[in-house]
Amino acid sequence: VLDAGTGINSMRWLTGARTAAITAVTGSSSMAQNVRDAVAPVLRPVDRILLGDWADPDLLASERFDTVLADYLLGAIEGFAPYFQDQLFARLRPHVGGRLYVVGLEPYVNVEQTTANGRLIAEIGRLRDACLLLAGHRPYREYPLDWVLRSLRAAGYAVEEVRRFPIRWRARFVNGQMDMCLKRLPLLTNRDLAESLAGEVEALRHRALAMVEAEGGIAYGEDYVVVARPEPIR
Ligand SMILES: C[S@@+](CC[C@H](N)C(=O)[O-])C[C@H]1O[C@@H](n2cnc3c(N)ncnc32)[C@H](O)[C@@H]1O
Repeated sequence: VLDAGTGINSMRWLTGARTAAITAVTGSSSMAQNVRDAVAPVLRPVDRILLGDWADPDLLASERFDTVLADYLLGAIEGFAPYFQDQLFARLRPHVGGRLYVVGLEPYVNVEQTTANGRLIAEIGRLRDACLLLAGHRPYREYPLDWVLRSLRAAGYAVEEVRRFPIRWRARFVNGQMDMCLKRLPLLTNRDLAESLAGEVEALRHRALAMVEAEGGIAYGEDYVVVARPEPIR
């Protein structure tokens, strides 16, 4: 199995499943270390955690895997290989012996919102992205399911199955996103702006946590899973 965009969640799941060998790829050395720490006791000598970039044509050259997992990889590409998203599925194709599983998140930041829940989740995403941009970092960019299906077909895959999973956002998400903002603020040169953004962050955290508490989570949006198989090249 190839975990093409690895992280603690996908590796915890994969190391608990029945596999012959796992290769995990990340573009981030700190992610590689975190994953290693999280699964160290169950890692076998055949399992590998590799630091690499899918934009590098030599990464895992000539290696094929029964199963390739792209678990929230597409949305993260912007941070590592911006503008490479349209190439991702073609780049992975030679490595897919059996099935490619694409797990993704419907975009919620640059989307017109029609419900109170949607507006609040989008507000969290926009404030987070504003902090990241002002700190000189690149925010994630999620892609919708129809883009993924188009892109998979154009890259020579047959789509076998699609499932959607409604999301209920909880306190961990709210705190995670707001803490991500706070961590970037020391990088801003305009200290007045940083201070004012810190106030915004805490006010939004407070509002969002109150809604999570009142409604047992904020129901909005969906994740998707697509199962695809490479079609023979004619
Ligand atoms: C959202 S994170 C991890 C999701 C993960 N599956 C989990 O369980 O948490 C996305 C991963 O994709 C990796 N990634 C993004 N762009 C990449 C690229 N161009 N080459 C290699 N890895 C990349 C990141 O380094 C990170 O490990």
